[in-house]
Amino acid sequence: MELLKKIQSEIDQYSNTIEDNLSLPDITIKYGLNSYRYGSSSFLDDLFDPIQITHETVFYDLGSGYGNIILYGAVKYPEAKFIGIEILEERNQVCMDLIEKEQIPNVTAITGDILKTDISDGTVFYLYNPLFNFQYKTLLDKLYQISLNKNIVVIAESRCNFFDEAHWLEQYHLKDIDVIRKIKYYRSKP
Ligand SMILES: C[S@@+](CC[C@H](N)C(=O)[O-])C[C@H]1O[C@@H](n2cnc3c(N)ncnc32)[C@H](O)[C@@H]1O
Repeated sequence: MELLKKIQSEIDQYSNTIEDNLSLPDITIKYGLNSYRYGSSSFLDDLFDPIQITHETVFYDLGSGYGNIILYGAVKYPEAKFIGIEILEERNQVCMDLIEKEQIPNVTAITGDILKTDISDGTVFYLYNPLFNFQYKTLLDKLYQISLNKNIVVIAESRCNFFDEAHWLEQYHLKDIDVIRKIKYYRSKP
């Protein structure tokens, strides 16, 4: 789709310059101690296939970077709602500008901390390595509380061990990227 290619190329163009100019000490002083590694999924084409997407789907990318995932999803699935939360305003602003420029109505990009933002309206939660190990417990507790009210899906691209260990989640799909890297799809147990 032309729009998706255009969005991808704009993200690539802006992200290169922004990443070159980010200083870890400066952003740590400004936003606190967080993991600011950046990378994005190379499997967008089939990332959404193992999930049932309907008009009731509220898909979160927790640590959404420049919005690659949510923008792709929002264009491909106009019936669903996509929300990204990204702690670095420098990255999130690119996504907000693209939403505005391309007038994509079913996507929101929030600048904020995933551990502190209300995500209770979510039904699907995607994570690509946003946190330090010590932060995962807080996130898992938060997702567990949400799962007490409705069934949710969690997609982990890296750091799957934290989700493997969660007694309230069951894995229902696996995508092997290579020997080490996996994308795992979990749903909450009823
Ligand atoms: C590896 S990147 C993944 C970006 C995006 N999910 C994608 O696949 O294109 C992880 C992102 O999480 C962000 N992040 C780290 N800690 C965060 C936090 N506590 N709240 C929100 N975002 C966070 C980082 O700044 C980074 O942009």
